[in-house]
Amino acid sequence: MRICMVGSGYVGLVSGASFADFGHNVICVDKDELKVARLRAGEIPIYEPGLDTLVEENVASGRLTFSTEIAAAVSKSDVVFVAVGTPSRRGDGHADLSYVYAASREIAAAISGFTVVVTKSTVPVGTGDEVERIIRETNPDADFAVVSNPEFLREGAAIDDFRRPDRIVIGTEDERAREVMSQVYRPLSLNQAPLVFTSRRASELIKYAANGFLAMKVAFINEIADLCEQVGANVQDVARGIGFDKRIGPKFLNAGPGYGGSCFPKDTLALAKTAQDAGTPVRLIETTVAINDQRKRAMARKVVAACGGDIRGKTIAVLGIAFKPNTDDIREAPALSIVQALQDNGARVRIYDPEGMKHAASVLDDVAFTQSPYECAEGAEALVIVTEWNMFRALDFERLRGIMAAPVLVDLRNIYRREEVARHGFAYSCVGRPDEEIQTEKQQRQSAA
Ligand SMILES: NC(=O)c1ccc[n+]([C@@H]2O[C@H](COP(=O)([O-])OP(=O)(O)OC[C@H]3O[C@@H](n4cnc5c(N)ncnc54)[C@H](O)[C@@H]3O)[C@@H](O)[C@H]2O)c1
Repeated sequence: MRICMVGSGYVGLVSGASFADFGHNVICVDKDELKVARLRAGEIPIYEPGLDTLVEENVASGRLTFSTEIAAAVSKSDVVFVAVGTPSRRGDGHADLSYVYAASREIAAAISGFTVVVTKSTVPVGTGDEVERIIRETNPDADFAVVSNPEFLREGAAIDDFRRPDRIVIGTEDERAREVMSQVYRPLSLNQAPLVFTSRRASELIKYAANGFLAMKVAFINEIADLCEQVGANVQDVARGIGFDKRIGPKFLNAGPGYGGSCFPKDTLALAKTAQDAGTPVRLIETTVAINDQRKRAMARKVVAACGGDIRGKTIAVLGIAFKPNTDDIREAPALSIVQALQDNGARVRIYDPEGMKHAASVLDDVAFTQSPYECAEGAEALVIVTEWNMFRALDFERLRGIMAAPVLVDLRNIYRREEVARHGFAYSCVGRPDEEIQTEKQQRQSAA
């Protein structure tokens, strides 16, 4: 298959390189000239484990190329994927479809021979109809089908997710398009990944329903964590206890500072807006959005409490700015709101993140970026873990105690046990695990007696 990928960001680049790896011929197009120049020079503009090797190998094989010329790429392709951004529209939270529609117009003008146009971007239900209308209006003679094929990969594990998806959803009622899409994904369906064929509208909704459900799961366990703190139970025990139930499942039950990233926040909002417009509000999702929004600043209050109720003039060290480990993506990262709230409370903030700082520099003011967790912690009254990078899982607490102004750890990802931190003289706060505190106090009382 000859494939054109329009948009070479996280999704476009990973999908394009992976399709090339399956044996297809792929041209990744982007209108960002600098991005394309870097890709052509062998540089990967984003941080995604394994992507550099995958790109390098497939460029060397001649199956993967990069271009800014959308028309030339489309005209020689059987399948054109649209993988451009669909951010929240400023003001009302609907998905901003201007990039999708602009790309559709450009694609339409260049279609030659039967071409399958596939929206891989996350788009609200009904967008495929509008893309089809735009293409027909721009190029009435074009022979084409518009298909929905939402992407479910996770940043940080994107290549593996793409190669071993739980399912591949393809929304089309066009027989020719169905055949083409089966060929595109043939290497994966041979490996037993289920191809779920649906109507285009159902496919578009599947993506939002999936992200909405997962976001709801995160918001749910976070509320249970708050309850645990009040009633003296450990949220990790509760999560384990419910997660073994196959109807619930263990994933997305880690209590923490709330979800962030380039998908959940905007997709939950867009789903809520779509449902309101349809006259059938999804109140569970509306509530999920509200819970998550409030949670981020609530985490800053936890830091204030850990520092004795006042952080004015104090230095706070924040570990992790990316919205999750193994990515440099900071879009809607909880850390951004937490840092802002700490500053609003008068703190000076120092930050360390192995990959996220280059982007953070353009959105955060008055913070000090540092080169290691230890440089970050120097002189700090509290160390706050916001993103659970592996390198933060084995910190040298003896060293930290020597360089910090006060031995206080706020672990918003629950990656430590209280007793191992307390052993080094640290005061420890976490999320939804007050019973450990009770245990430790009990042990202290027993050993004192
Ligand atoms: N990032 C994820 O983890 C993820 C996962 C699943 C689905 N998605 C969805 O995939 C879509 C893309 O997300 P992303 O994170 O890859 O976005 P991104 O911002 O990283 O990349 C989008 C790219 O499209 C390019 N672009 C925009 N208009 C263009 C045009 N007319 N022609 C050529 N290039 C154009 C931009 O320059 C940019 O490089 C979104 O709808 C998102 O919701 C993202």
